[in-house]
Amino acid sequence: MTLPMKITGFLATLVILVIVPIYSFIEPTHQESLLDSYYTTAVLSSTDLYAENCAVCHGAAGEGIGDTPALNTDAVRTMSENDLSKVISRGRSNTLMAAWAAEEGGIFSNSQIADFTTFIQQTNWDYVGTRVAELGLTPPEVIEMEVSDEMLSSLSAIDGGEILTEGLLVYAENCSACHGANGSGTIIAPSIDSDDLRARPKEEIIQMVNSGINGTLMASWQNILTPEEINATVDLIYRWPELIETGVDFPEVEVMSIPSSPELIADGQNLFNIACKSCHGVDGYGSPMAPAVNNQLFLEETPDAAIYQIIAGGVSGTLMPAWGSRLSDYNLQSLVAFLRSMEPSAPAILPPILGN
Ligand code: HEC
Ligand code: HEC
Ligand code: HEC
Repeated sequence: MTLPMKITGFLATLVILVIVPIYSFIEPTHQESLLDSYYTTAVLSSTDLYAENCAVCHGAAGEGIGDTPALNTDAVRTMSENDLSKVISRGRSNTLMAAWAAEEGGIFSNSQIADFTTFIQQTNWDYVGTRVAELGLTPPEVIEMEVSDEMLSSLSAIDGGEILTEGLLVYAENCSACHGANGSGTIIAPSIDSDDLRARPKEEIIQMVNSGINGTLMASWQNILTPEEINATVDLIYRWPELIETGVDFPEVEVMSIPSSPELIADGQNLFNIACKSCHGVDGYGSPMAPAVNNQLFLEETPDAAIYQIIAGGVSGTLMPAWGSRLSDYNLQSLVAFLRSMEPSAPAILPPILGN
């Protein structure tokens, strides 16, 4: 039997056993206030849980952020209890909406899910926005990462035209942290200056970069880069040997080093509590939703720039969202600084990704 049916059954029993007998003795106004207080309790207890777990994607006042839908609309408010309960319990596959019910691998009991359903149908979203702000959990604004024109033109002296220049720049900024400054790979990602790769049709490589490789650190780039940028980067993979043969000097690819300061770490910690704790657990120790990031092996083996890219690009085919379109460069750096600050005291746990 499904969860919502159980709840409906339970509520029906409750109505028969409790509310009906009470109704027969007391006046209707008292019955209304009883129901009111049932709703009030559900709404209030869900508000803080919403702030901690849902606001980061659905917005402080349920207004939606980026591609994540709003919850403060009539369309959502009037969804059936059954449908609401189902989407919160089980999530929606292949989207960022996770399954939140404990029996589906999430963190909420059935009664908390039932409260969320009531909350979404009944709450005053202005109040929720105020409460989220009071708790210091208002999510950061959406900031798009941009490739600046200055950077493009500073590389335009290289032979091979605009496309290669663009490809090299996109590569330097987005791929080099994992695939290495000269495309020959790093501890966390394979070489992409590879004849095997070049023997495959271009559409296949483009598709791989577009969609990512499920369950690996190779993210889906189609929402982060334009089709032209992806095309230029894939061209670069094919023309790598040609560039080397013709003696083109690769520009020094600057491997980003993340600054660290007590302020940056504190800002990162704050943001971690807002955006990451719900899955990665208190102080990054992990939860049923996501592995520990406060993890010695992971931190030791993953350079700052790669951690930055993992957070920005997400892990496709898993619950790990791509934060690059939602967080500023400063935000992402602060998260890296915060994670890095845990390294000296991090427990030695086998990293789930590096192992595969
Ligand atoms: C990591 C981002 C993220 C988090 C955190 C998140 N959601 Fe969602 N949620 C989504 C996305 C994306 C969708 C749309 C899925 C789709 O495309 O169908 C969604 C859909 C929904 C819907 C259905 C809306 C509709 O129009 O059909 C509800 C209800 C919902 N979420 C409630 C919640 C609740 C309650 C929480 C907290 C317990 C939560 N979400 C946390 C990303 C998130
Ligand atoms: C966070 C680390 C990371 C970043 C950033 C990254 N990749 Fe990858 N990439 C990987 C990993 C890991 C794999 C291997 C996945 C697997 O196990 O199949 C991979 C695989 C690939 C492959 C397939 C290689 C093969 O031999 O099958 C291509 C092509 C590729 N990446 C291109 C790119 C491009 C282009 C970018 C930048 C737009 C990029 N990657 C950014 C981690 C990364
Ligand atoms: C909706 C749940 C969810 C949220 C929110 C989330 N993550 Fe993740 N994250 C995951 C999952 C699941 C994985 C593991 C992916 C896999 O199976 O490879 C992961 C993986 C990671 C990894 C790689 C860990 C490793 O061992 O390789 C890092 C780093 C990371 N997340 C950082 C963050 C940061 C920083 C935030 C907040 C900005 C965040 N995550 C928010 C679910 C989440």
